[in-house]
Parts: sequence; C-alpha cells; structure tokens
Amino acid sequence: MSKATSIEELIERAVSAREQAYAPYSNYKVGCALQMADGTVFTGANVENASYSLCICAERTAIATAVSQGHREIAAIVVVTQSSPPAAPCGACRQSINEFCSNPSKLQVVLVNGDGERRDLGFHLLFPEGFRGSDL
Ligand code: THU
Repeated sequence: MSKATSIEELIERAVSAREQAYAPYSNYKVGCALQMADGTVFTGANVENASYSLCICAERTAIATAVSQGHREIAAIVVVTQSSPPAAPCGACRQSINEFCSNPSKLQVVLVNGDGERRDLGFHLLFPEGFRGSDL
C-alpha cells in the first residue's frame, strides 16, 4: 500500500503489476493500478485458471485488494494491455468499478499499452447509466 503522486507514477505501477500476470492460456497480460480517494494505490494483474471461467481480470483483482483493506472509493484507474489501441475494461469489470465509484464522471480512466499509446477518458463514457445500489 502506498500513495502515487501523478498519473505517470500510477502508469508505472500498473506496468509493474502486469509483469505478475498469470496468463498461460490467453497469453494476454493485463495490469491495473487504482488510486483511491485518499491517494492510496492498489494494483492487480489477471489470474487465469485451467478451468477458463475462473479467470480473474486485473481490474477485479485490484478492486478486491483495495476493498478488503478498507478502501472503497476509486479516484483513478490505469489499465495496461498489449492492445492497440489500448483496451478498455470488460463489462464485468465496468460493473465492479461502478460499485466503488460514487461519481462516474469524476473517475479518471487511463488506458495504455507497451508502445506508449494512451487514452484518457471519464468512467461515465465507458459505463453510462450503470446499475447501482441506489437502484435497488
Ligand atoms: N482481462 C482482464 O484482465 N481485464 C479485462 O478487462 C479484460 C480481460 C483478462 C482476462 C483474461 O485473463 C485475459 O485478459 C483474456 O481475456
């Protein structure tokens, strides 16, 4: 657990996290870094399984780590893949991110790849009108 001072540092943390990805089946490695509302950073990588449906995405690995340590508000998220253009989180991860984001238009999403390509956008553009606890 540590704090990041800039998005560039958050990107570095996500790149490092990606190195720990366990992706022997897809060979598609993903790294994620979350900056929580108080600045604390949590990271995650995808963890695959021979029983394919048990694969866990990098984003949800990071979210589970953050929440299990008492941090529930995501301020920024970086996702590193090998895709060009840089890939965005899958639908399941978008729903999981939404659960821990009280204002989607304020959540900064940064998508990068190893070739230096970068896309910046607000989470509301990735997940408009998401279903949340207040809808129940
Ligand atoms: N993956 C992620 O880690 N995050 C996503 O948002 C999309 C997909 C992982 C899951 C699997 O290990 C591999 O990428 C290929 O789908």
